[in-house]
Amino acid sequence: MSDSSDQGYAFRTRAIHVGNEIDPSTGAVVPPIHLASTFRQPGAGEWGQFDYSRSGNPTRSNLQSTLASLESGVGALAFSSGMAAIHCVTMLLENGDHVVAGCDLYGGAYRLLHKICNRSGIDVTLVDMTDVDAVADAINSRTKLIWAETIGNPRLTIPNLPRLATIAKENDAIIGVDNTFGTPALVRPLEHGIDIVMHSATKYLGGHSDCLGGTLAVADQELLDRLYFIQNATGAVLDPLSCFLISRGLKTLDLRIREQSKTALELSKWLEQHPKVRSVLYPGLESHPQHQVAAATLVGGFGAMVTFELDAGIQQTAKVCESTKLFHLAVSLGAVESLIEQPATMSHASYDAADRARFGISDGLIRLSVGLESFEDLQEDLASAIGEN
Ligand SMILES: Cc1ncc(COP(=O)(O)O)c(C=O)c1O
Repeated sequence: MSDSSDQGYAFRTRAIHVGNEIDPSTGAVVPPIHLASTFRQPGAGEWGQFDYSRSGNPTRSNLQSTLASLESGVGALAFSSGMAAIHCVTMLLENGDHVVAGCDLYGGAYRLLHKICNRSGIDVTLVDMTDVDAVADAINSRTKLIWAETIGNPRLTIPNLPRLATIAKENDAIIGVDNTFGTPALVRPLEHGIDIVMHSATKYLGGHSDCLGGTLAVADQELLDRLYFIQNATGAVLDPLSCFLISRGLKTLDLRIREQSKTALELSKWLEQHPKVRSVLYPGLESHPQHQVAAATLVGGFGAMVTFELDAGIQQTAKVCESTKLFHLAVSLGAVESLIEQPATMSHASYDAADRARFGISDGLIRLSVGLESFEDLQEDLASAIGEN
């Protein structure tokens, strides 16, 4: 592809070609990484395409072009982390504004809303995003932002995106969703009427546990301009080396997430039969409360995150997490190596204890990020960890 236009190509093709155009000066099929922090200008007061790397950088622009194409957006922005991207969205708000957010929410987003945004006079109501009536009831005249996750964390709840988008429009609120667990390969929220789609690119977009990053993509140019203004003014941009790593990760995203989703489904079915497992929360299982919504929302796979609950207390559950060999005991997710963690003591430790209890983040809960290892090896690893404890 000689320019960055989509030309009707499929997702996988665009992931490889859009934003990865041939370098005109050398013919390199992989664009060079531009580390320059500043750029020589044509004249005083005359500006070239790039002037200073906080405001714009060619390697970041390439990644943003790929992302905009993959998300069906007018544009995208790359940030130094997923939290920096969410923070940028919250900086659209002003003193006195109100946020309605999901109660199945990443712990860091919960902390940002409750312990940072509150300092600017912004308050938040948490609701079950799968209950559209509850969302409508939680909205008041000050509500300016609705924030949900396409696949909730850690209980893997699935909201109905078009219905949430309609409620947001009816109430003149912006709706943003964190699509980290869903990935643009399986669901593109902007196509469902959502205003802002966000990713912790640290996870599936990068895909190899070797860089931090965050992204926003939007369907509306005016909203993009407002977010860009905040990003440039506050400065949490993604560095060129990380941009390169995430661009490289995107080329295999579609393959990785589909393969990982298949293994996740097989593991979920096996866990569901295990005598020591109380319940399994996986959107691909018919027993999942939003299985039908998931089947309509996620195309080609149900994601590679699996949450299950053991018939066990906090210590016994921790022991299971500490006993696996292939599943590494670590926070984060979305990479080629499988990870295991205990939400109550790790990813969701920043929730108040009362909210953990209220939102079903129980002591026996275990969250798996299923990687690219073989199903048989992962099954055996879990079987011996659960069996031993
Ligand atoms: C769903 C989700 N959103 C956002 C984040 C924050 O991203 P980052 O760690 O890149 O700041 C995470 C991190 O674990 C996450 O899991």
